[in-house]
Amino acid sequence: MVVDIKQKSRFNLQPISQSVSVSFNYQIHFTKNLFDLKNPLLAQVITADEETKPKKVLAVVDAGLLQFNPELVWQLAAYSKFYAEILTLAVEPMIIPGGEAAKNDRLLVEKIHQQIHAAGLCRHSYLLAIGGGAVLDLVGYAAATAHRGIRLIRVPTTVLAQNDSGVGVKNGINAFGKKNFLGTFAPPYAVINDSTFLTTLSDRDWRCGIAEAVKVALIKDAHFFEFIHTHTAALVNRDMDTMEQLIYRCAQLHLEHIANSGDAFEMGSSRPLDFGHWAAHKLEHLTDYSLRHGEAVAIGIALDSTYSYLLGLLDWLQWQRILNTLSALGFTLYVPELAQQSLFRGLSEFREHLGGELTLTFLQQIGQGFEVHEVDISLYTRAILLLQDFGEKRRSFSN
Ligand SMILES: NC(=O)c1ccc[n+]([C@@H]2O[C@H](COP(=O)([O-])OP(=O)(O)OC[C@H]3O[C@@H](n4cnc5c(N)ncnc54)[C@H](O)[C@@H]3O)[C@@H](O)[C@H]2O)c1
Ligand SMILES: [Zn+2]
Repeated sequence: MVVDIKQKSRFNLQPISQSVSVSFNYQIHFTKNLFDLKNPLLAQVITADEETKPKKVLAVVDAGLLQFNPELVWQLAAYSKFYAEILTLAVEPMIIPGGEAAKNDRLLVEKIHQQIHAAGLCRHSYLLAIGGGAVLDLVGYAAATAHRGIRLIRVPTTVLAQNDSGVGVKNGINAFGKKNFLGTFAPPYAVINDSTFLTTLSDRDWRCGIAEAVKVALIKDAHFFEFIHTHTAALVNRDMDTMEQLIYRCAQLHLEHIANSGDAFEMGSSRPLDFGHWAAHKLEHLTDYSLRHGEAVAIGIALDSTYSYLLGLLDWLQWQRILNTLSALGFTLYVPELAQQSLFRGLSEFREHLGGELTLTFLQQIGQGFEVHEVDISLYTRAILLLQDFGEKRRSFSN
């Protein structure tokens, strides 16, 4: 029997249709010395809701950050004492390991939930997450799932977290060997970027976040790419003013996309902000996370730019300009894991994570992305060889 699925059925009642829309507003603040008693920003952010005071706050701090900023714990205590009418630390700050290891440890989510439960936090209390992108992703997931959502204030302390991961609407942890397998879309209550934290970053983590800026510039803003290209030396030499400009523009482009793409919660299959990320996520896994997210993203960008060149979308000069810029910033653009056949499993995992049809963004030119739904693996293999060749030439040139 063939059933016409468009035909009305005598089994079913008329459905009730309802459209629900929710709007979210949150601000990204930029400051210095956030926990200096003379800096009222955090207290102002918390008072903004004009409800009964003081508000319970549970601070969760990245241990890697704390190693270089041990004074942070007493600064938090002093701050809450000084602004006692506005906020109160519910319990001692929780200190959790930083880096990807945090996202690979499901027990940490449970520990945060336990603290939320023990401290009696409600949906109008605050989780104050202070740390790199990994810690923010993990705490964001715990915040979104306790009581179905506790207010989250993110204080990102790496470049990548300040210009990309910490300003958006996603959180998550890894599971089954897959990045961000568990997670939610949950906008934060507020984000506070304090550039003072960036001074203690390793050169590696200082550089990592620049990869996400190159990514968003390549797909959305040729002028911004030019800014990065002409400021590579300043960025490599850790000029803070240049870095603050880079972070501001990158965060702005991200938020513009989230607010205006019409798909803030990524219901469709298109995800231009994930340019270069299918390979990046797989490489992170294949290298057992010895590659940082930003380092893997730089390789993913180089790979997908090379593929765009081989497809005939991107001209030779622009392609070379991209590779040279990434290289001048200090990124390595070839790792042996690129040659593993299992790399290409990253394509199906990427599709699976997004849902629907495989949709990858390639480059038509610097500043302009182009969506494609099919890929040619043999062309990708050529792209990988070109990257290997580029890396070898670069090495012999610098020796
Ligand atoms: N949610 C999103 O939309 C999104 C977007 C992009 C990336 N991410 C995720 O972000 C993570 C990467 O974040 P990341 O690049 O910030 O790295 P990270 O969180 O792994 O931090 C890197 C290292 O720096 C340390 N650290 C943090 N702040 C420091 C400081 N101020 N001084 C010294 N050390 C400090 C950490 O302890 C860690 O050891 C990845 O898990 C990635 O998947 C999420
Ligand atoms: Zn990323």
